[in-house]
Amino acid sequence: MTTLQQQQQQDVQAMQQPLGSVAKLVASGIQEVPPMFRVKSKIQQGYCTTNTCDDAEEESTIPVIDFAGFHGTERRPLILQQIRRASEDWGFFQIINHGVPPALLNDILHTHKEFFEMPLEEQMKYYSKDMNAPFKFSVVPLLPPHFIQPWKDGLTVIYSKGMDTTNWPTKPTTFIDVTLRYNDAVNVLKRELLAALSESLGLQSSFIDDLCGEFQKSNSNYYPPCPEPQYAFGARPHSDPTTITLLLQDHVGGLEVRDKHGEWMQVKPIPHAFVINLGDQLEIISNGRYKSVEHRVTVNSNTARISFATFIYPSKTTKVGPPLELVNLEEGEPYKDFIYGDYLAEFVAFGIKGKRFIDHVKTTGLHYN
Ligand code: OGA
Ligand code: NI
Repeated sequence: MTTLQQQQQQDVQAMQQPLGSVAKLVASGIQEVPPMFRVKSKIQQGYCTTNTCDDAEEESTIPVIDFAGFHGTERRPLILQQIRRASEDWGFFQIINHGVPPALLNDILHTHKEFFEMPLEEQMKYYSKDMNAPFKFSVVPLLPPHFIQPWKDGLTVIYSKGMDTTNWPTKPTTFIDVTLRYNDAVNVLKRELLAALSESLGLQSSFIDDLCGEFQKSNSNYYPPCPEPQYAFGARPHSDPTTITLLLQDHVGGLEVRDKHGEWMQVKPIPHAFVINLGDQLEIISNGRYKSVEHRVTVNSNTARISFATFIYPSKTTKVGPPLELVNLEEGEPYKDFIYGDYLAEFVAFGIKGKRFIDHVKTTGLHYN
């Protein structure tokens, strides 16, 4: 067995000992962040000078792109140009007028929030020891125990055609219907976005979508209030291993993105907008022209926050690499090709350490190959 496999086996065993949810911990009245979640204070990390961190970040300037008219000839060139610029400069943008009905956006956040606010016993019906279960409530520890745990509860769904939903929650009563309808709507938008991103790189419209698998995954994230928000993160700095991630967030705020200068910027909630972030696979396909940008989630002491992330990624056996038309040897070593499943396995083992995994492998390949 390789070291990677040994590590994976140990992680699986440790994560099969559920300790409960973060919401339950908060409800028990704890006043301090327990060691398994605890990071150095953000002051010690140099992020800010006050405990509330309210001096650290400026308001978001990440681009907001109006998607209205994407299918017409009049606005499409402008939208493509805005997507290209936002992808080169930020790797993150928000889109409005994207066609997903506002009522459905409200419903998905409300329904999942209701699920997270149910008693733990009810939620534990959906806990599974299987790390790859297609429907899974995540309990503490959410990451292998040698990592600092995120201050959040989560629900992961892996979607496939004709999937069986008989064991999904019937409380809240709308849960199954809303979750499926939302996923269908996001699927339509995802295809449009991937077409826009392909065209913005000068590739055939279907190029990136063709590389993406039939499966996609969602994580609803519930970030309970935290008694010492300066000592915990909802998500520590990471870049997503995906092609793209479509994120819907409520009004609370907490998502931050690292800009080109290394500064953390808030991604200010805009009602009914999607936050689109480019993942590692898109950085690889674009040969580094588009960046998979580091982001993180801070927590606060007053208000629970909910977000719903849909991850678009290739199938495990797909080879992903930059197409020839995006390789120019004079610009330096091109990105390597990766089999997505191998990439993901190393990404998970590498863990969330506040560095971009992709920087370690982009021109050298995976360590164990
Ligand atoms: C993620 C993520 C951000 C958020 O799920 O990968 O970065 O605001 N989520 O919940
Ligand atoms: Ni992320």
